[in-house]
This record gives sequence, C-alpha cells and structure tokens, in this order.
Amino acid sequence: MSNSQSADTSAFWNPFANMSTLAGNAVTIVRGEGCTVFDAQGRGYLDALASLWYCNVGYGRTELAEAAAAQMREIAGFQTFEYYTNEPAEALCGRIVDLASMSGAKVFLTPGGGSDAVDTAGKLARAYWRAVGEPDRQVIISRTHAYHGMNAYGTSLGGIPLLTEAYTPLVSQVEQVPWDDPNALEKSIELVGEGRVAAFFCEPVIGAGGVYPPPDGYLEQVRQICRRRNVLFVADEVITGYGRTGEWFASGRFGLDPDLITSAKGLSSGYLPIGAVIASERVAEPFWRAGSTQVFRHGYTYSGHPAAAAVALANLDLIERERLIDRVRALEPLLARAMAPLAGHPAVSEVRSGTGLLAAVEIAEDVRAADPSVGQRLVLAIRERGVLTRLLRAIALQVSPPFVITEQEIARIAEAFAGALDEVTAGR
Ligand SMILES: Cc1ncc(COP(=O)(O)O)c(C=O)c1O
Repeated sequence: MSNSQSADTSAFWNPFANMSTLAGNAVTIVRGEGCTVFDAQGRGYLDALASLWYCNVGYGRTELAEAAAAQMREIAGFQTFEYYTNEPAEALCGRIVDLASMSGAKVFLTPGGGSDAVDTAGKLARAYWRAVGEPDRQVIISRTHAYHGMNAYGTSLGGIPLLTEAYTPLVSQVEQVPWDDPNALEKSIELVGEGRVAAFFCEPVIGAGGVYPPPDGYLEQVRQICRRRNVLFVADEVITGYGRTGEWFASGRFGLDPDLITSAKGLSSGYLPIGAVIASERVAEPFWRAGSTQVFRHGYTYSGHPAAAAVALANLDLIERERLIDRVRALEPLLARAMAPLAGHPAVSEVRSGTGLLAAVEIAEDVRAADPSVGQRLVLAIRERGVLTRLLRAIALQVSPPFVITEQEIARIAEAFAGALDEVTAGR
C-alpha cells in the first residue's frame, strides 16, 4: 500500500504546496512519540524539524492533552475583549514576563501563532508612537532573508522575495536593509528621516531565510543604533523563544533588552496554537498609565484562549521540570559537530550551526543551477532514509529538532543527509 494520498481525492489545500504535483508525495501523519512521527502505514520518521520549529518537548506528551481536557471541562473558550479575563491567560502572561526577565512588561496573547504576533507588534509599535505624541514615526525596517509570517504585516516585512513579491506592498511604510550590515540600518534610518522610523524587526537567528546565526557583533551594533536613534527594537523570537538557543529567549543570550518580543511556536510546543507579544514597560506605559485614554484597539476572537493558555502553562512546566533548556545548551556543540563534516561534501557550500538546536546545510549554487530540482529531491531522499527535513529559501536543508533529541538521533540525521547527498548528487 502506498504511504501517500492522491491529491484528487483530497480537498485539503496544503500551505506552500504545488497542489498539481502533490499527488503521490503527501504523507498522512497519524501520531508521534518523542522525536518520531508515524504515517498511516505505521512507518516512523525522525523529525529533524520539530514539525515547523515548534514541537520542542517532543510528541506524545499526554500531560499537555490532559491540561487541555481539564481546562475544557471547566470552560474551553471565552472571549477576553474589554472586561473579561481568565485564570490561565493571567497566569501565562505573568509567567512569560518572568521568563523574559522584563520587569514591568505586559503580554498581548495571540491565537494563531507567529503571524498574528508580528501583525500585533507592528501595529503596537505604530500605536505606541502615536500615543507618545510622535505620530510621524510609522516606518518599520526589516532585513533581507527575514521571515515574519504570512499575514499582511509579516508579508510586507518579509525578506524572501519568493514568498512576498506576488503580494507586496500590502502594508506601506516598510523598508529593508541587508541582513548582516549594521551600517545599512543606520543609513536607512537617516534616509527615511530620523523622526519617521517606528521600529526595527530582527530575528536574533534568521530562521526560515536559511538559519543564519548573527554575525559577530551584529546584534549588539543594531541594538545600539536603535537606542541612539530612538527606534523600537523588536526581537522576532517566534522560532528562538522558549529555549531553542539555549536560553529562554535569544534576547537574553545576546543581551538585547528589546522593546518588543514576538513569540509563538515553542510557547505551547504546538499542542494548541498560541502566540504572545511581550511589550516592555516603556511600550506598555502609555496604555497602562493610570488615567490614560490611549486604547490599543486590536485583538482576536481567540486572544487569551483559556485552553490554549492552559496547555502553554503545562508546556512551560514541562520544559522547566525536565531542564530542557540546559539540554539544548549541552546539545548545541554536539549538533554542530555532527553536521560539520557535511561541509566537505562537494554538493554543499556551507553548514551553519552553533546557536542552539538550529542548523542548515546549504546546497552549492552550481549544483542548484545545474539541477533546480535537486533540493526537493534531497528532501525526498532524506525522507526515504526515515528523516524529515525541508528546504529553506530553496537553498538549504533545515535542522531544528525537538529538545528531547538524543545524540544517537542527531547522528542519524547527519547520516541520512550524507547518504542522500551522495545518492542525489552522484557523479558530480
Ligand atoms: C521568525 C518568524 N516570525 C513569524 C513566523 C510566523 O509564524 P506562524 O507561521 O506561526 O504564523 C514564523 C514562522 O515560522 C517565524 O519563523
């Protein structure tokens, strides 16, 4: 029996998929355990992706299902617009502020993940400047290779042309600078006009753009520039938040002291969708100050969803109890060491790793030019070897496993990559 479902019998429209060629390649995932997911035929795959960078505690955590069920028995959902609140949402926001070590910060919960968090942060940055009497500060600057989700703001701020050029401009007043050049940020702020820039959006480690850890000194310099120019620094930690770089937040690892943090994914390990925007005391103050008339008129039906918040709390408990962030720190050099030999393969131009449980194997440009399908063929050949990865920006293979991965499983990922590279690029 085939492990795939024919596209013509399905009404499910897969994100980012060419639906005309999906037939024969779609895999129906039915369950998971640890770092392994199983298809409908019972075949196991070692998930080198933690799904989409999110299943940090691994699959099959019944205590998270129980947390959801317990909350749903009380009340599954209730809105939080205006007067209403609930205990899990309150507890979760307090917990997030503590974990981020941002005293006086406030948290705006989003229901759908990172894209909602990014749109919320973009609007909040602009609302903040209006609230403090600088309404001309409306421009937001982002970086090439950046991925900030697929809602309107995130698409407009995105730095991967393949994903954005068909749609932009959606939101006006956005600018882009090279991902690795602090001087370019400074020049852009000057060019736009100093009193016109609201914020700079920055992934501490670029993720979907190809896993680029920050060049030495880059983050320190852009943080300084933002401070000097009075531009809000927004750390997009949708991937890096809640432990992936070996600290609760990459902002802590790199000493960023951001004005806003966007987060999602690892907040619940994806057991239910939820995201959070952490607003520093400075950004929150004009809206929270006693007697203020400023209202952030923004929110989603499922903001502060009690069941999702309960699951997120249980997920954070689990990360703490099992000391999974210490584990990430211990595994960081092991992952780097396991992947490093792939850089010697003739079809590979670079292996990037060394910041938490994140790595990418970039396929050499000449190999991609000679065979534009090589990346997807590698993904499928690696899958044939029982390991799940995917292609980032059409150039690099992603590695971002669950935090519970073992050293042996890391070795299996490297082995599957090496075997597939040999097979698919044989004769070069
Ligand atoms: C840095 C970053 N921001 C935002 C997003 C969007 O998150 P979501 O897909 O959960 O909406 C992602 C998703 O990968 C991301 O990596």
